[in-house]
Amino acid sequence: MKILASRRFPGPAWEELEDVEYDDELGHETRPDVEALAVVGEVVDGRTLDLFPNLRVVANYGAGYDEIDIAACVTRGVAVTNTPGVLDAATADLTLALMLAARRRVVEGDSFVRAGKWGTEWVSTTLLAQEMSGATLGLVGLGRIGTAVARRARGFDMRLLYTKRERLSEEEETQLGVEFRALDDLLREADIVTIHVPLAEGAKGLLDERRIGLLRDGACLVNTARGAIVDEHALVRALVSGRIRAGLDVFADEPDVPAELLELPNVVLTPHLGSATLETREAMTRVLVDNLHAAAEGRELPNPVYP
Ligand code: 8YV
Repeated sequence: MKILASRRFPGPAWEELEDVEYDDELGHETRPDVEALAVVGEVVDGRTLDLFPNLRVVANYGAGYDEIDIAACVTRGVAVTNTPGVLDAATADLTLALMLAARRRVVEGDSFVRAGKWGTEWVSTTLLAQEMSGATLGLVGLGRIGTAVARRARGFDMRLLYTKRERLSEEEETQLGVEFRALDDLLREADIVTIHVPLAEGAKGLLDERRIGLLRDGACLVNTARGAIVDEHALVRALVSGRIRAGLDVFADEPDVPAELLELPNVVLTPHLGSATLETREAMTRVLVDNLHAAAEGRELPNPVYP
């Protein structure tokens, strides 16, 4: 099975594939010989698919597959696979890191030391922060990653609120120590809000200007999901006003980051690092390659994104 990959993926599993060609633009001419695409964040739409009339599978390196036009794949009978499960811990860890960094002003402290200010200014007034321990966390979405964040947050004695399309059973809520809230109520009540929903239909702009306005003064918003889930212009305005803090790993138009954010002390910025550990990225390659092997051998796909 000829695979066209947008890049070489990290880890030993990638070397198992025999017939791979690389093209980070995914083709310019019709390629009847290509039966599989291996992609990460590239747009795969009807126009892309038309270049590959014999395509069987689009294997996506990542849990989120919002750049792939699933309806166009369904119409053409092209399967789509992703790499869920293996990146929950890494993404949850980074979420906690951003919560702590934004809340405890870790990056500001780092700049303070590097600027030689330590000893000349009294830190106890200039860098006073807000506790994370004991704060109220609002989880927007409680799938695998949201649940991993909730488990970690319990170690910080946080009160956990969550919102989700389908509410958990009472038993599950008790077990995880979470309380259900409608989204607006969660935003009003939480000290820290973290986002863990996919950028599916309905999630674009879910946190719009009105909802950002519901956040409490001094609240902290952490996004390791997708930038477009939040109205980025409205978020920038709220951050510029200094009313809230944020830890942002994702942006609406990556790799572009709104210029205003670069100057702000109340936001911590990372370049989409959620799954970026050696272990996790290699595990993602393992899952991607397993899906490609299954497609090549006509076996059931381990991680199809639609039935
Ligand atoms: C990226 C992710 O795909 O899994 C996801 O949805 O956002 C990430 O894992 C990956 O980091 C490659 O950029």
